[in-house]
Amino acid sequence: MMFSHRRKTLVCLLIGFLVMLSLINLSDLDAGGFIPGRAGTRPYRGAGPDVDTDDDPNFFWRNIPIRYPVQSMSPLPTGRARPLPKIQAVFGKESAEEKESRRQRRDAVKKTFVRCWESYKAHAWMSDEVAPISGRARNPFGGWGATLVDSLDTLWIMGLRQDFDLAVAAAANISFETVTSDEINVFETNIRYLGGFLAAYDLSGDKRLLRKAKEVGDMLYAAFDTPNRMPITRWRAREVAQAKGVEQVAGDNVLLAEIGSFAMEFTRISILTGDPKWFDAAQRITEILERQQDSTALPGIWPLVVNAKSQAFNGHNAFTLGAMADSTYEYLPKTYALSGGRLASYRKMYEKAAATATNHNFFRPMIPDEQDILISAMVKVRADEGGAARSQLDPEGQHLVCFAGGMFAIGAKLLELPGHLEAAQKLVDGCIWTYQALPLGIMPETFHMIPCPSRTGSCPWNETLWKKEVLLKHGIDTEDVGQANTIIAKNRLPKGFTKIGDTRYILRPEAIESVFVLYRTTGQKYLLDAAWAMWKAIEKNTRTELASAALADITVTDGELPPKLDSMESFWMGETLKYFYLVFSEPDEISLDEFVFNTEAHPFRIQAP
Ligand SMILES: *[C@@H]1O[C@H](CO)[C@@H](O)[C@H](O)[C@H]1NC(C)=O
Ligand SMILES: *[C@@H]1O[C@H](CO)[C@@H](O)[C@H](O)[C@H]1NC(C)=O
Repeated sequence: MMFSHRRKTLVCLLIGFLVMLSLINLSDLDAGGFIPGRAGTRPYRGAGPDVDTDDDPNFFWRNIPIRYPVQSMSPLPTGRARPLPKIQAVFGKESAEEKESRRQRRDAVKKTFVRCWESYKAHAWMSDEVAPISGRARNPFGGWGATLVDSLDTLWIMGLRQDFDLAVAAAANISFETVTSDEINVFETNIRYLGGFLAAYDLSGDKRLLRKAKEVGDMLYAAFDTPNRMPITRWRAREVAQAKGVEQVAGDNVLLAEIGSFAMEFTRISILTGDPKWFDAAQRITEILERQQDSTALPGIWPLVVNAKSQAFNGHNAFTLGAMADSTYEYLPKTYALSGGRLASYRKMYEKAAATATNHNFFRPMIPDEQDILISAMVKVRADEGGAARSQLDPEGQHLVCFAGGMFAIGAKLLELPGHLEAAQKLVDGCIWTYQALPLGIMPETFHMIPCPSRTGSCPWNETLWKKEVLLKHGIDTEDVGQANTIIAKNRLPKGFTKIGDTRYILRPEAIESVFVLYRTTGQKYLLDAAWAMWKAIEKNTRTELASAALADITVTDGELPPKLDSMESFWMGETLKYFYLVFSEPDEISLDEFVFNTEAHPFRIQAP
């Protein structure tokens, strides 16, 4: 089975979703139904244009004829990068005790990484994933060694230099000329493979990695060879490779995340190579986003389905920062940072999008301890009887949308917007609260809660209301408390949750990602303990003899073993373990003032002034 990540979606779910789209109004969809399943840094050789000295004219993908050449190419931003405001907090000296505890925690994370890495080496070397229970090798991401490439920078950061060298030598051997899958997810290939090579190059300066980045970059570039230069997102790359180019047209139902998340990787590779073609390709999409940002049904943000063929990015009516949209938003402030503040349009787009999401998508849930937290949810806009647009909140939380707390923290510091820090704090606390609310200490994939009447003022716990909403959410039209109690017991719903639509935990990174970012941006020490509590719960419950496994149901009572799934996506070693390791590292280890992480946790070097 192929899982997807944040933005990372199951092909079959997409197809189902598109079928549903054609049958019913999107506004009637329940979001829960289609959420799938985001040391030493020396020696570094500088971040300026690294114009090819060793370019290979035989690059396979570069030699496929282009049918629709670009008429006028957007140049890379010129002018000096500007000094950006400091993103990281100022950290005081830690006590000997704090240091000792931090190091023990960091080493525990590293141990788990090494165990998983050794299993991958032994059982699935050069394949995309090792299955953590059966030990089988799996290839859901093109078969080019997704775990190998996703893990390169983690190996470097953890100081596993021998394995890094071994991995780079093996990665240099990957053939992107050979396509084994019928369909390639261009977005996943971009964030995992291109992102993985670029970050490993930015850290190590090893030229073989830049060469691999160019190879995979050239492959991805061929997906943009359409009449309007919009990319094919689910791409029959093998056909293109075999025929040396085919006639192709961009899709009319494309997920926002899959078309809007090229900016970081494509900007970085253009800067590193001096070749503007990738930057130009991403810029064409950015220009459409910018032009249509105010004309959507929820002005400021874009619907999660857009039309790449007609270039209408303002037609649909479901809006979320969550699954299938997420990294388009995440890349706005991050691309601004990456460019050293030279791409001002990203800054403007982020400010508008953040304002709309804050006003419409965030809700404060009613919870027993009345803690003031925020959850980011889906909004659907539809016409009421008089034809006026009405927006409706679907109060669903997702593990995946936990990245938003980190995005707001970065936005707050980078753009000096203190209000964003308050939102970041409440969003991150919402994720920590949800971890703690479940008996195992792990948050589910998706869940529903009850919005407070307002985000300000008090929001007292009301048990009667909770039970009434549980009944409603389960489609039962009574006010029978007994029946509510039965549903709560049967579904093991903690107080505050009206439904847990997807009970899995698939080794996702977003919660620890946002805890890490908020820690680095604010230095609040409670975040280290929150991170450690998450780690202990995840480690205890996901550990298998070989590696770490996704969990099928995290609602089981503590003391019971949650059922495991035979799956460990590459983001476990590429993202989750990296963020856990970094939160317990020295704060200047991959400083957020020097690096910006892509949506697969690959750190790219920020353009220095
Ligand atoms: C690279 O591929 C060649 C040919 O398949 C093989 O002989 C060699 O061992 C590989 N090198 C590494 C480091 O994997
Ligand atoms: C609690 O919720 C119930 C059901 O909506 C409502 O009738 C009741 O007035 C609420 N109690 C308080 C104290 O607000």
